[in-house]
Amino acid sequence: GSTANHISGDAQFVVVANRLPVDKEVLPDGSVHWKRSPGGLVTALEPILRQQTGAWVGWSGIADSDDNPDIPGVEIHAVPLSAQEIAEYYEGFSNATLWPLYHDVIVKPEYHREWWNTYVEVNRRFAEAAAKAAGPGATVWVQDYQLQLVPKMLRMLRPDLKIGFFLHIPFPPVELFMQNPWRTEIVEGLLGADLIGFHLPGGAQNFLYLARRLAGQATSKGTVGVRSRFGVVQVGFRTVRVGAFPISIDSGELDRKARSKEVRKRAAEIRKELGNPKTILLGVDRLDYTKGIDVRLKAVSELLAEKRIDPAETVMVQLATPSRERVDSYVKMRAGIEQLVGNINGSYSSVGQPVVEYLHRPIPRDDLIAFFVAADVMLVTPMRDGMNLVAKEYVACRSDLGGALVLSEFTGAAAELRSAYQANPYDLEGVKDAIEEAVHQNAHEGRRRMRALRRQVLTHDVTKWAQSFLGTLAATTETASDANRG
Ligand code: ADP
Ligand code: F6P
Repeated sequence: GSTANHISGDAQFVVVANRLPVDKEVLPDGSVHWKRSPGGLVTALEPILRQQTGAWVGWSGIADSDDNPDIPGVEIHAVPLSAQEIAEYYEGFSNATLWPLYHDVIVKPEYHREWWNTYVEVNRRFAEAAAKAAGPGATVWVQDYQLQLVPKMLRMLRPDLKIGFFLHIPFPPVELFMQNPWRTEIVEGLLGADLIGFHLPGGAQNFLYLARRLAGQATSKGTVGVRSRFGVVQVGFRTVRVGAFPISIDSGELDRKARSKEVRKRAAEIRKELGNPKTILLGVDRLDYTKGIDVRLKAVSELLAEKRIDPAETVMVQLATPSRERVDSYVKMRAGIEQLVGNINGSYSSVGQPVVEYLHRPIPRDDLIAFFVAADVMLVTPMRDGMNLVAKEYVACRSDLGGALVLSEFTGAAAELRSAYQANPYDLEGVKDAIEEAVHQNAHEGRRRMRALRRQVLTHDVTKWAQSFLGTLAATTETASDANRG
C-alpha cells in the first residue's frame, strides 16, 4: 500500500507498553541482570505473549538503554528514555499527574507544561517504534495511561494497522477528568484506536460522554455491558468501539502451582517461621498510596487496642514491593506506613514475636504463592484500584477452600468477587468489622464463600480477557454501517 516507506517490521501482533516484561538491573560489578517488571500489567500480558508470538515495544526501566533482553518467542523492541524523560514523562506526567487524577485525586495531581511536552514527545517515540515493529495490516495493542496519545499518532503513521487500546487503571469521573489542561488531546489520542477497553462499564460510559463533549463526536448512548453491548464513537468515516473487559490472571496455572507439594511444604514452613499463630493476615502490594496499606494497618491497630483480635495469636504480614521511589508522594507515604508498622510493633509485639512482619522488596513468585496458601485472611483495601489482581491471585491459590478475602468496594475486582468480605476503605469501622468477621468466620461459611469466588476467578481468566478484547478488535471494521451490523 501507500504506507510502504514506514513498514519495516513483520510482526503481526505487537504489544506496546511503557515497560518491557523484564526490568534491567546493572549490578555493582557492571554485569546486567533482567528481572520481572513490577505490577499487574506484566502479570496479565506475559502469559498472553507466551501463547501467541509477537513483538513487545517498551522501556527497560533504566536510563539511556536500548538493550534488548532475550525472551523466547517474543521480539523485544526497547525504547530508550533519557534521565530527563524518565523524570518528566514517567515520574512526572504519568505518575504525578495522571495516576493521582485517575485514582480519585487521593493525592493532588500536579500540572506542568514541561511534563506534558515530554509526555507528547515520548508517546511519539513509542508510536514510531510500534510503526517500525508492525508488519502490514498487523494488530497493535497499546497499553495503559502512560501511552494515551499513541493510538492517534500510530494511526497517522500507519493507517493500515488495527489498533487496540486498553486502560489498566480506573477511568475517572468526568468532573475529575475535566481538571486536566490537556483533556481534549488525550480523548483525541485515544480515539485513534479501533477499540478502547476499560475494566468496568462505568469507565467506558465516562469516556463516551467525554468523546461527545470534548471531541464533539457522535456516540451511542445506551449502557455498555461487560464484554458486550459495546459503545460506538463515530470519528469521520471511522467507527471506534468502546467496551468493558475486566482483566484477570492465569488462574489455572496459579491453581496448579498452589496445589504442588513444594508450595504446600513452603506454606507450612512459613506458618512455622511465623511462630504457628492461629491467624495469619496478609497484604501484598506495590507500595502505592492507592492500595490503602495505611487503612488496614490502622484497622488492625484498633482491633488490637479494642482486644477484638489477640496479639498472641495473630501475625500480619505485609509484603510491599518498592515502586516509583523518586516520586514525592511515594516517599511520604512510605515513611507514614513504616511509622505505623513501628507503632503497632512497639505497642503489641513481644520479643521474638512481632505482630507485623513488613518486607519492602519484591518476593519471588513461588514464595508469594506459598504466602497466599498460608494466609487465613487476605487484606485488599485500596482507596481506588482499576482491578487488583492480588485479590484474584489469592482466590486462585485456595483450592483447599480455606482462607477469607477482605476486599475494598473501590476495586474493579469488587464487581466480580461478590462473596468477599467487602468494605468501604473510607469507613474505618466498616473495615474493622469486615476483618473481624473474616478472622472469626466459621469453616462452613468460609468454604461457601471461597467456592463462589473460585467459580468466578477460574472461569474468567486472562486468556478469556485477551480473547474477548482481541476478538472484538478483529470484528471492528472501517465503516459505520459494518460496525452497526456487528
Ligand atoms: P498493580 O498493577 O497496581 O501493581 P495488581 O494487584 O493488579 O496491582 O498487580 C500487582 C501484581 O504484582 C500481582 O501480580 C502481584 O502478585 C505482584 N506483586 C505485588 N506485590 C508484590 C510483592 N511484594 N512481591 C512480588 N510481587 C508482588
Ligand atoms: O496498571 C498498573 C501499572 O501502573 C502498570 O501500567 C505498570 O506497569 C505497573 O502498574 C507498575 O508500575 P510501574 O511500571 O510504574 O513500576
